[in-house]
Amino acid sequence: MPKFTRRRLLAGAAPLVAAPVLGKMTLGSDAGAANRTLQGHVHDHRSAGHAAMIGQNVPAVGGPRDLDALLYPPPPLPYEPGRIREYEVRARDREIEVAPGVFFPAWTYNGTVPGPVLRATEGDILRVNFTNAGSHPHTIHFHGIHPTNKDGVFEIVNSGEEFTYEFEARPAGFHPYHCHSTPLKKHIHKGLYGALIIDPKEPRPPAQELVMVMNGYDTDGDGANNFYTVNGRSFYYARYPITVRRSELVRVYVANLTEFDLINSFHLHADFFHYQPNGTGDYREYTDSVMQCQGQRGVIEIEFANTGLFMFHAHQSEFTELGWMGFFNVVD
Ligand code: CU
Ligand code: CU
Repeated sequence: MPKFTRRRLLAGAAPLVAAPVLGKMTLGSDAGAANRTLQGHVHDHRSAGHAAMIGQNVPAVGGPRDLDALLYPPPPLPYEPGRIREYEVRARDREIEVAPGVFFPAWTYNGTVPGPVLRATEGDILRVNFTNAGSHPHTIHFHGIHPTNKDGVFEIVNSGEEFTYEFEARPAGFHPYHCHSTPLKKHIHKGLYGALIIDPKEPRPPAQELVMVMNGYDTDGDGANNFYTVNGRSFYYARYPITVRRSELVRVYVANLTEFDLINSFHLHADFFHYQPNGTGDYREYTDSVMQCQGQRGVIEIEFANTGLFMFHAHQSEFTELGWMGFFNVVD
């Protein structure tokens, strides 16, 4: 297979370079239409690709509820002293389909990239029983405050071994977790990362809550990403827009775990939002775009002024065209 780099993909010769990958698509009856859409949108800017991609013809993998467990976090629990929040996390190798016909040999937590959304309330004891059923040594490194012997750096967990991370959940905020085995770049890029919400003792106002973990996939091993997503599948929320009610606050926990690229970003169309970096502290920005370095994260709160379809995507246009794009469907 010819090298399928994003630089060449976006250059003039792209349709020829990309053809073998697109030819591998296996979408079933609408594969032809999907291929044309992806090809039109990504590769040929002179064609009908100018229209926004949305709905059933968008080439995204899977059914409408596939990513619910990654999009909708577990509910917050009110503060209660001494409570234990316990999670089972299992590392395993798994080939995942990131775009139609495009498979990635991932290393996963619990079989998905990103891994499961973990949640605790500040002051809870967070207990994560980790089993390494994968083929390489792994760990879980949580961002936050905890003893250094639970930091996922020194206690390497070999294949077939187990380790329990247990510490008080703090500070309140939104934090990433990821493997910290070496080579770090590889262990992260292969898919070992996820989101941890720590709710403040004084709860945030009720909201429709969503989690979006931004990532990329280098599907040809050249050290540059070929696809970008939120929650693991390119163009997924363009094919299946996220329905929210205008009457209720929308809160989005956004984190960037993209490897290789220095930054990623979240941009909302047709409205503004408040952004709290890390989900901590009093500082709020009022904006329609936020930029995050790898490992950065924050909490977005949107009060939609209107109903309708609101696009969101990386403000790096290249990332958008390689899969990091979706829609909110705001209804009354
Ligand atoms: Cu690892
Ligand atoms: Cu980190």
